[in-house]
Amino acid sequence: MPVLFRNDFPRSFPRVNELSVRRSAELLLELSGMVEAELSILLVDDKQIGELNRVWRRKSGATNVLAFSLTEGDDSAMALNLLGDIVISVDTAAREAKKEGITLHTRLQALLLHGFLHLIGYDHEKSDSAAERMHDKEQDLLQEITKKRREKMIKLAVNVDHIATLRQARGISEPDPVLAAGICELAGAEGIVVHLREDRRHIQDRDVRLLRQTVKSKLNLEMGAAKEIINFALDVKPDMVTLVPEKRKELTTEGGLNVAGQKKKLKAAIGRLQGAGIPVSLFINPDPRQIKAAKDVGATFVEIHTGRYSDVTGHEEREQEFELIAAAAEEAYEAGLRVNAGHGLNYVNTARIAALETIEELSIGHAIMARAVFVGLDQAVREMLGLML
Ligand code: PXP
Repeated sequence: MPVLFRNDFPRSFPRVNELSVRRSAELLLELSGMVEAELSILLVDDKQIGELNRVWRRKSGATNVLAFSLTEGDDSAMALNLLGDIVISVDTAAREAKKEGITLHTRLQALLLHGFLHLIGYDHEKSDSAAERMHDKEQDLLQEITKKRREKMIKLAVNVDHIATLRQARGISEPDPVLAAGICELAGAEGIVVHLREDRRHIQDRDVRLLRQTVKSKLNLEMGAAKEIINFALDVKPDMVTLVPEKRKELTTEGGLNVAGQKKKLKAAIGRLQGAGIPVSLFINPDPRQIKAAKDVGATFVEIHTGRYSDVTGHEEREQEFELIAAAAEEAYEAGLRVNAGHGLNYVNTARIAALETIEELSIGHAIMARAVFVGLDQAVREMLGLML
């Protein structure tokens, strides 16, 4: 089911979640019984789509989506299952999303669907009844795709700091977090997280440098916003950075970042990192004020702190904490931020969080490592993934 994806939008990252667009396209093919077909998606800006509109449709100005069918009257393309190209203007999609009060991704998905229906022969311009048929099909597919996407969206990123903690306790070279990361990836993890602390109490510079070379999924470097660490990140270039508050004496990260209280500093740090092509996530409590601030300072992601939800013991309190996380994830997603979550998640409390459709990824360390001691790392990761379906 090949979906060829090209992002020619000049200001490509961080506005568009390419994975999300690609998944929507794959689902469209699946739901239409065309798993063998090939589809190409091109994201462009208004200028580029305006040019295509002029050359191919003799119309002036930009439009939101253009579909170029390869199968119309071409038997060889039909035989090869080549559907054609869908070109979407991110500029127009963003404007339309704003006007409709929906997210850019929701709008992109609708435009993708519209283009796709054109490619498979629907045409609202032919007649009223054809327009009605296309509209009905669009609504049906949109419902199905939303349902399916919610089932599929979540990913697991494993934090391997504890492997380094064990190594540092002996001051020798084993166990190696780099090896652990490979095992996690082979078991299905789609990201590796390490926290490089200022005091280097567990993860060392060498670990991050080697992980940069070996991690095949995505290396997420968790860190405080100290200058020395930022310079290190700029040198190593992880796939993303998660900024956290860091206190020397804490056992683990204790609370979310107070983004609202240090906007200037964080904006500068984010500017440097994202300027070098490293998307930044801010680890925040499920608090609307922090979400707004995260948006204001230009973060690409937020990671919602699930620590309180994990730690509270009373049923009612846990429900309250869960509601806060669900609302915060929704709010951040609607604000156009990409949403991760983590801290304190374990084999009992993860499934509910994983079911929240607006969260892309969970970052889990302690519970997986604790279980790995008894059942092995590979199995511990697989069991966690099994709970996140
Ligand atoms: N996310 C962040 C920002 C963290 O600091 C940590 C702990 O290192 C985690 C997730 C993972 O937490 P846990 O080890 O409790 O799963």
